[in-house]
Amino acid sequence: MSESRRKDAAQNGAAHSTSTEPHVARPNVGNRVTVVLGAQWGDEGKGKVVDLLAQDADIVCRCQGGNNAGHTVVVDSVEYDFHLLPSGIINPKVTAFIGNGVVIHLPGLFEEAEKNMRKGKSELPYCLKVLLSDVLCVFSLGTTKKGIGPVYSAKAARSGLRICDLMSDFTQFSERFKVLASQYQSMYPTLEIDIDGELCKLKDYVEKLKHMVKDGVFYMYEALHGPPKKILVEGANAALLDIDFGTYPFVTSSNCTVGGVCTGLGMPPQNVGEVYGVVKAYTTRVGIGAFPSEQFNDVGELLQTRGKEVGVTTGRKRRCGWLDLVLIKYAHMINGFTALALTKLDILDVLPEIKVGVSYSVDGENIPNFPANQEVLQSVEVQYATLPGWNSDTSAIRTFDELPENAQKYVRYIEEHLGVPGKNPLLTTFMSSCRGHRYIWGHLVFLLIKLFNNSSSPAVKWIGVGKSRESMIQIF
Ligand code: GTP
Repeated sequence: MSESRRKDAAQNGAAHSTSTEPHVARPNVGNRVTVVLGAQWGDEGKGKVVDLLAQDADIVCRCQGGNNAGHTVVVDSVEYDFHLLPSGIINPKVTAFIGNGVVIHLPGLFEEAEKNMRKGKSELPYCLKVLLSDVLCVFSLGTTKKGIGPVYSAKAARSGLRICDLMSDFTQFSERFKVLASQYQSMYPTLEIDIDGELCKLKDYVEKLKHMVKDGVFYMYEALHGPPKKILVEGANAALLDIDFGTYPFVTSSNCTVGGVCTGLGMPPQNVGEVYGVVKAYTTRVGIGAFPSEQFNDVGELLQTRGKEVGVTTGRKRRCGWLDLVLIKYAHMINGFTALALTKLDILDVLPEIKVGVSYSVDGENIPNFPANQEVLQSVEVQYATLPGWNSDTSAIRTFDELPENAQKYVRYIEEHLGVPGKNPLLTTFMSSCRGHRYIWGHLVFLLIKLFNNSSSPAVKWIGVGKSRESMIQIF
């Protein structure tokens, strides 16, 4: 390892130095952030993965979305739910940072902090540990009642209101507020806004927010270039809901893929370290839009009921189907996942056989890409591989070796099929046979082979077999 790489690795901590990095000298870029992103249509269980990683984190960040997303975290049998606050805030040592890419509903932010504070055993001053950057203010407007779409539209139309505006001259802020309110009223003619009342409430927030607001770019720069720090970025929503790469128009209003980390926090791409993709062991989708591997049968119902797949905000049942590797591969092409967390494997425990979508065809012809057009996506036919189920309860299992053989095979199958052409199949098979071996030499051989196997296939690093933090099986 070169001197500069050694320094780099030392500064970033062992967690960020992977043996598969190319051996080229790189300038010292400072600390790197670890990113957790949804690889499907959301609700993959990102909250639990973030909670796990946040245990030794110094800073946890949100970079996009608003309080339309929700993470659920179970710690010591207490269920916390987060919408705007990064879920890593459960760790009392952590500083939560909400970046400029996030849209904020201020009353919602404080309600959420207080609600979760009441659930916690300690008297943690959650609010005091939240830093806000240049975020936009959202008022409860718009079709979703959360106002996420309208506020991102206002941002693009240059009429949005930002926290820095609220914290500056209040007279000027009030003028801008009135302009924005009249714009919204022309868009939503039935909308009533008590302008004076809203302004009065907002003025009260100025005092409350004073100690929480920082210049985001400066804050991140200092965090990245100061002493070694573990910085975690918590993606909301997921790849297929991304405004650019998702199943448009049934998407959210922000970039939930890796690019959103840089634009939503104000940091350069070279500071992006590990990018963990969270994949549910099957697929779910909320609301309308194409869903190639959806199952309108007993399997779909079983996944829905066993997986308790019900929308947190709407209470609507989520649509369910088999795991779709075409879709995950697409998310990997965009995000470059360095590893995956596979959640809800336990939900598949009772299935005699399990299907996995491996390719798409249109009019009988295989297609190499994930179709951007909704009508085309709607019309694809999915080719499935059928794997044997394991018919046993995995929920109490805590190591990879203890998983039933067929469950292990399911995990390996996923890893192997996410690789790009050029991957050495012999090495893959050998790596798979070493994977999970309980003896140390097995792990060493696995690492050595990983080093020489020039593949872009991300390995599964965690497997979720239950709701709690403890139910994440870590694969070394
Ligand atoms: P969005 O940000 O809205 O996409 O949600 P999310 O990805 O953060 O999902 P969330 O954390 O809300 O998790 C969804 C649900 O699945 C929660 O109720 C979790 O407790 C539960 N869950 C997560 N992982 C597992 C798992 O491995 N097994 C089981 N049975 N439940 C899990």
